[in-house]
Amino acid sequence: MSKLYFESYQSINTLLKTLQYSSAYVLVDQNTKLHCYPLIAPFLPSHKLIEIKAGEVNKSIDSCIRIWEALSNDHADRQGLIINLGGGVITDIGGFCASTYKRGVQFINIPTTLLAQVDASAGGKTGIDFQQYKNQIGVFSEPEFVLIDNSFHRTLSNREKRSGFSEMLKHGLIADKDHWEALTHLDYEKIDLDTIKKSVAIKQAVVENDPTEKGHRKILNFGHTIGHAIESTLLGTENALLHGEAIAFGMLSEAFIAVKLNLLEEASFQQIQQVVEKYYGKLQIEKALRNKS
Ligand SMILES: NC(=O)c1ccc[n+]([C@@H]2O[C@H](COP(=O)([O-])OP(=O)(O)OC[C@H]3O[C@@H](n4cnc5c(N)ncnc54)[C@H](O)[C@@H]3O)[C@@H](O)[C@H]2O)c1
Repeated sequence: MSKLYFESYQSINTLLKTLQYSSAYVLVDQNTKLHCYPLIAPFLPSHKLIEIKAGEVNKSIDSCIRIWEALSNDHADRQGLIINLGGGVITDIGGFCASTYKRGVQFINIPTTLLAQVDASAGGKTGIDFQQYKNQIGVFSEPEFVLIDNSFHRTLSNREKRSGFSEMLKHGLIADKDHWEALTHLDYEKIDLDTIKKSVAIKQAVVENDPTEKGHRKILNFGHTIGHAIESTLLGTENALLHGEAIAFGMLSEAFIAVKLNLLEEASFQQIQQVVEKYYGKLQIEKALRNKS
């Protein structure tokens, strides 16, 4: 399991001294290049920047080629280090490219969205979307460490914060009633580091017992079977949903099925519905699909 550091990004230089590497590459998208890289750059050792386009549609093989080409053209060797600075798209694709370049080089994650901090950056799942399928190609591979600093949230839109918040709700629903109850009264625009820590700890505990998802880890996929279907269907359309938004509706749908299968009480379903609607409104799936271009 990777070590998680809940520290200021300013400590990156000290943390990197614990690793041995020949050359460092910082992977960004245009938004993290603009908002996050200037903050951390003064504290980074010598490195080269690799930029890909932002967004889920770019969690693709084309972006991988761009990253592998940049590494190869710079003659990066097997002791290279990739520093993933961004949201879940960057940590997923950066981890995948690092794990496959020359059969695997080291990488670290510095997640800059709430979603990546509470979920995507830890747990060892890396990968890309392929054809119309989410996360179709990928490998399990752990970063050397993850550095979590919520000061990156300052430039994050409220919609993005709301997206990350749904994975926190998921952690509460699958494992910790108190966490769930606390979250249902929180303002997702102002999530503090302790609440983030609690969510990641839930995920880490599950992953620790089943790192490659042979059984129990599947609990973390709550909301994701239907959520991924919603996300993929609307991807690239004017009604596209952010990952966490799709997962919120996925959790609601799967909770509904659970009631029908007598696996969940109606009252619990109603509470989930109330919370999902409070934060995410209602998804008019037929309308969204009608408008699909
Ligand atoms: N590997 C896993 O275990 C795991 C778990 C959950 C989700 N995921 C994946 O994570 C992805 C979603 O992650 P995400 O929501 O972070 O998406 P993202 O990486 O697309 O980031 C969302 C947007 O915010 C921008 N951004 C990032 N940090 C910013 C900052 N500090 N200020 C301003 N803008 C910023 C990005 O450029 C992007 O436009 C999905 O692909 C999903 O499949 C992976």
